[in-house]
Amino acid sequence: MSTRTLAITGASRGLGVAVAEVAAAEGFDVALGARDADAVERLAADLADEHGVGGLGMRCDVTDVASIASFRDAIIERFGRLDVVVANAGIGSFGPMVGFDSDAFDAMFAVNVRGVWATLSAVADDLEAAPTRGTAILVSSDVSDRVFPGGGPYVATKHAVRALARTFQQEHPQLRVCELRPGSTRSSFAGQDPTTPSGEGVLSSTDVARTLRVVLTAPDDVRIEELVVRSAGQAPDY
Ligand SMILES: NC(=O)c1ccc[n+]([C@@H]2O[C@H](COP(=O)([O-])OP(=O)(O)OC[C@H]3O[C@@H](n4cnc5c(N)ncnc54)[C@H](OP(=O)(O)O)[C@@H]3O)[C@@H](O)[C@H]2O)c1
Repeated sequence: MSTRTLAITGASRGLGVAVAEVAAAEGFDVALGARDADAVERLAADLADEHGVGGLGMRCDVTDVASIASFRDAIIERFGRLDVVVANAGIGSFGPMVGFDSDAFDAMFAVNVRGVWATLSAVADDLEAAPTRGTAILVSSDVSDRVFPGGGPYVATKHAVRALARTFQQEHPQLRVCELRPGSTRSSFAGQDPTTPSGEGVLSSTDVARTLRVVLTAPDDVRIEELVVRSAGQAPDY
């Protein structure tokens, strides 16, 4: 089979970088998008050197439909196909609902929900046309079917991502849609310091990405609809 192409948004740091590394190690040509163009260009070049795959890194702001369209066009121009998209870009702000900053609220919905919708919309036809069975991986969270105090607006965005994943699957039954639901993961997310050693109950981004390998390498006629990945030390809250 010729080389498959995987595109990922939010690939400048954190989980996006780890997924890009696993995909390149599995032999995918990788297309990496984020607002930090330098970071994704550098990573794409490094992965291409290390794994002998094609690497494309370019600016992609998922709140801007035109920016996503440019990213999509560059992928098709460079690789001629798109087999897997990972809608990973996401931001988080936390606090009680009453008094929550309305700009932070809007920003989360713009990136986490509208951005996922816009990404899928831009590449749906390419996934349909892919030589392998096209796959869309939507990064939500283990909170996409529960709630907790202080998580309201963020959790609402992830419930929405779950709804988008399932609707997209129903509207595109020939594709494979997987909702990736990581538990607490060490990264720069919500202002964390990614260099702080993982505490009990916290995953590394690499742990999550390595687990996602099962989706990236599943047989063409197998659909993994949901993958919940938690540290064995995290409380099993349902
Ligand atoms: N860390 C956790 O505990 C955890 C748990 C469950 C789920 N998640 C989800 O996992 C995903 C990745 O988060 P992470 O932990 O890797 O966080 P992170 O280290 O903060 O990375 C977030 C990524 O999203 C990108 N991004 C933010 N706004 C963007 C925009 N408008 N357009 C394009 N890219 C944008 C950032 O790149 P630029 O700033 O360069 O654009 C960055 O690459 C998110 O969807 C998050 O909700 C995280």
